Amino acid sequence: MKSEVVLVRIQAASGLVFALFLAVHLANLAFAAGGAPAYDAFQRAARTGYQLPLLEAVVLGAMLVHAAVSVVRLLRSRGSPAPRRSIGARLHRIAGLFLLVFFAGHVAATRGASVFGGVFPEFAGVAFTLRWIPLYFYPYYTLLALFGLYHGARGVMLALPRLGVSVGRVRRWMIGALALLAVMLLAGLTRMAREPAPRGEVPYAAWLARIGVR
Ligand code: HEM
Repeated sequence: MKSEVVLVRIQAASGLVFALFLAVHLANLAFAAGGAPAYDAFQRAARTGYQLPLLEAVVLGAMLVHAAVSVVRLLRSRGSPAPRRSIGARLHRIAGLFLLVFFAGHVAATRGASVFGGVFPEFAGVAFTLRWIPLYFYPYYTLLALFGLYHGARGVMLALPRLGVSVGRVRRWMIGALALLAVMLLAGLTRMAREPAPRGEVPYAAWLARIGVR
């Protein structure tokens, strides 16, 4: 029981640390509604923070700890009788499992390009993937954005009280705020999806060709 309390606190604290990055990252996607210059300018500015080696290690480390603790708690709970879960709690779990499955691939495909190929995907790279394999990337980005938003926001509301911080009043605004943010994320994705193919080759597409992915 004592170890369960410790795990709950580690899960809450690591989730909150990662949520700071996620908030910036999803705000970046909302900026895509303003087109490539807005998205890229925001990302270049944000990158000077989250890609500082120490900060990047903290962000990725927090994510790994959070995922590991969540899997351990999930496995431990399998033996005990399942409690009745609200729709919100079920959705939170489904979103978490989706992110668990796709997180590593997302980081490899995006950060891998800049670390190993010197190419930042940016707006043009994401827009290229939507033209390249639309049947995969449309649902993938939509779920990544919406599940990321929901799991992150609900997670923060669960984590703060577990660390002794009250969220009573904020909770009332949650549904409206989430709906508004979801619309902003979808507006960003829609703008990327409508981006016409440029004349020359997109650097991110060229990198994918160089490593034999396309
Ligand atoms: C449709 C939604 C999303 C899009 C279009 C997107 C796009 C990108 C892009 C372009 C990068 C490279 C950033 C850079 O070069 O500075 C990136 C990195 C990353 N993304 Fe996403 N992302 C989305 C959602 C998410 C979600 C929901 C998560 C986590 C749950 C996430 C986690 C990360 C992480 C950890 C990195 C690496 C950051 C770093 O180490 O520099 N992304 N993403």
